[in-house]
Amino acid sequence: MTASTQVGIVGAGPAGLLLSHLLALRGIDSIVVENRSRAYCEARQRAGLLEAGTTELLRAVGLSDRMDAEGLEHGGIYLQFAGERHHLDFKDLTGGRWVTIWAQTEIVKDLIAARLAAGAQVEFEVSGTEVADLDQDRPLLRYTDAAGTRHEVRCDAIAGCDGFHGICRDSMPPGLVRVAERGYPYSWLGILATVPPSTDELIYSRHENGFALHTMRTPQVSRLYLQVPAYEDIENWPDDRIWAELRHRLEIPGWELKDGPITEKAISPMRSFVASPMRYQRLFLAGDAAHIVPPTGAKGLNLAMADVTVLAEALTSLLRHGDPGPADAYSDASLRRVWRATHFSWWMTSMLHVEPGPDPFGAELQLSQLRYVTSSRAAATTLAENYTGYYPVHWS
Ligand code: FAD
Ligand code: DHB
Repeated sequence: MTASTQVGIVGAGPAGLLLSHLLALRGIDSIVVENRSRAYCEARQRAGLLEAGTTELLRAVGLSDRMDAEGLEHGGIYLQFAGERHHLDFKDLTGGRWVTIWAQTEIVKDLIAARLAAGAQVEFEVSGTEVADLDQDRPLLRYTDAAGTRHEVRCDAIAGCDGFHGICRDSMPPGLVRVAERGYPYSWLGILATVPPSTDELIYSRHENGFALHTMRTPQVSRLYLQVPAYEDIENWPDDRIWAELRHRLEIPGWELKDGPITEKAISPMRSFVASPMRYQRLFLAGDAAHIVPPTGAKGLNLAMADVTVLAEALTSLLRHGDPGPADAYSDASLRRVWRATHFSWWMTSMLHVEPGPDPFGAELQLSQLRYVTSSRAAATTLAENYTGYYPVHWS
């Protein structure tokens, strides 16, 4: 079956779905193909923290009703080390900026509902996705739908929003893409628990046993993370052991961690990875398809949504006004924001995680850096302006 559209989008994660929504606001048609089911995409537990600019973007494009009613605004964080807990007040440090706890699952649910209500073509459970003819004016997107029918769609442009393990990055000509990456010798074990958060603001704790983070999803649901060895087996972490280790790494005199039933637990590897350029001819990469950051500091989702905001404007100029300038600038403009977030995530990760072997020198540097960030207004401001989003996106 052969069809045609303006933009073929691979991947129904936050990047692909938001791009389809933004293009529709500019009068541009798209198709989204996704190899997982709708239920799987809506339930995949991942990010939860939005920069101020990302929440404003969702407001500007009509996707904020539930976030405004149920999202949790935070004006700072706690940094904990050596048995001390310090508050950083972002609003004071940045002249009023904040972050919002609003889960990626909820953003994806709202985006899917909005796209389907608008009559958009979103194909779940596809297989055999391919992109071809990338050096021609009308590249080709091929896929097999859930019923087994093979499709070919001629597109004016293709957006690779297919995450780190997608096919689009590797479809670029060999030798074009330069990869810069860094691995980390630890992973995160993340849990969701049905228990009210024990804290008003997120707690980032550096402890001799390793990093721990207390975050949340709703007033009834807590999300917590523990640094564990790379390639750790989740079977080694029964619920009692998780709570005991969280208490050990997070509790200070006068403050107790409440526990409750764990409804979800998973281990995620940590990696920094940037592929450039993010474009070849009429194929554009966005989000995790082009770059991955370690989760400390919560940048991945924000970057994915920023990429497609820039890309939607670039495709509008290209496809509606015949102006290739913004499309030509897309990769460099996005990579500036990506590298700022890549540095920030690496810095937060390196400051807060404990190396596997003995490293007294590294440990003292971390503690000195943490004391500096919690005592110098200049250093605290650096953290605060990066955490709340140094290059906010705009949509008018
Ligand atoms: P994805 O969400 O990976 O979506 C890509 C989609 O493409 C997927 O649905 C996939 O199934 C589909 N796909 C792949 N291959 C194909 C194919 N061949 N054909 C069709 N479809 C395909 N970020 C933050 O900003 N804040 C946080 O607090 C935060 N916390 C995190 C916590 C954890 C534990 C993890 C793992 C990540 C976290 N992140 C966070 C990162 C964030 O979740 C990702 O950066 C974000 O999901 C990227 O969105 P995306 O749309 O680019 O990619
Ligand atoms: C969350 C995840 C992060 O990596 C982070 O730095 C802050 C919050 C979260 O899942 O809520």
